Amino acid sequence: MQRRKLIAGNWKMNGTGQSLGFFDEIRQASEANPGVDILIAPPATLIHRAAARAGRVLLAGQDCHAQTSGAHTGDLSADMIREAGASHVIIGHSERRADHGETSETVRAKALAAQAAGLIPIICVGESEDDRRAGREQAIVGDQLEHSLPAEGEFIIAYEPVWAIGTGLTASESDIASMHAFIRGQLANGPARLVLYGGSVKPGNAAGILQLADVDGALVGGASLKASDFSAIISAAGKFVNHAE
Ligand code: 13P
Repeated sequence: MQRRKLIAGNWKMNGTGQSLGFFDEIRQASEANPGVDILIAPPATLIHRAAARAGRVLLAGQDCHAQTSGAHTGDLSADMIREAGASHVIIGHSERRADHGETSETVRAKALAAQAAGLIPIICVGESEDDRRAGREQAIVGDQLEHSLPAEGEFIIAYEPVWAIGTGLTASESDIASMHAFIRGQLANGPARLVLYGGSVKPGNAAGILQLADVDGALVGGASLKASDFSAIISAAGKFVNHAE
């Protein structure tokens, strides 16, 4: 009942300037739940404008390049993301691993670039449906952690089972609890890290997920596009944190 929670929204490839009213629409939930940290990863084109509207809401990029500059058409460096107004950057989302062939080694290089630019990487891991059916989920996530994480410096982990993303399927609370305990165990030799859950987090299931001891927050996709849904998830998180903090 004492730790803060982080509720993060990943807008993916959604949102234009018209979407920025979102920050006003979630203000009430934000003010009513001061023990909940709130973060939005809008498309990179909106970070700068969002920074003027975000108040205490943190901003993140959805990806960055591993290099600091150069001939990489269409890519953005970590410095560019930070300079636009972000404090965090999502790295290694399963959609980037799948759509852009990102390996855990690429993810680690990007995470190091993010840290060097003063951004906190939110590093995503998660098994496919086949992996879970075969009982390989811990082996897969363990391998991703081993090869994706920087050896030191600040970072956040997001456990996002691929089969739960955008499908309306959520991992059961006991599956989430055991994977988060496994991840916590893998990190046991380092400093405390936030471990978020992502995959069809909605107002209706948020409280059940966020009450789990090893779940420090959520990375929300679809439900972060609607201010009322996202506000409800912030309020659900607020029930599990100490308001004095
Ligand atoms: P959904 O909440 O839409 O399943 O997306 C989760 C996600 O991928 C967040 O990064």
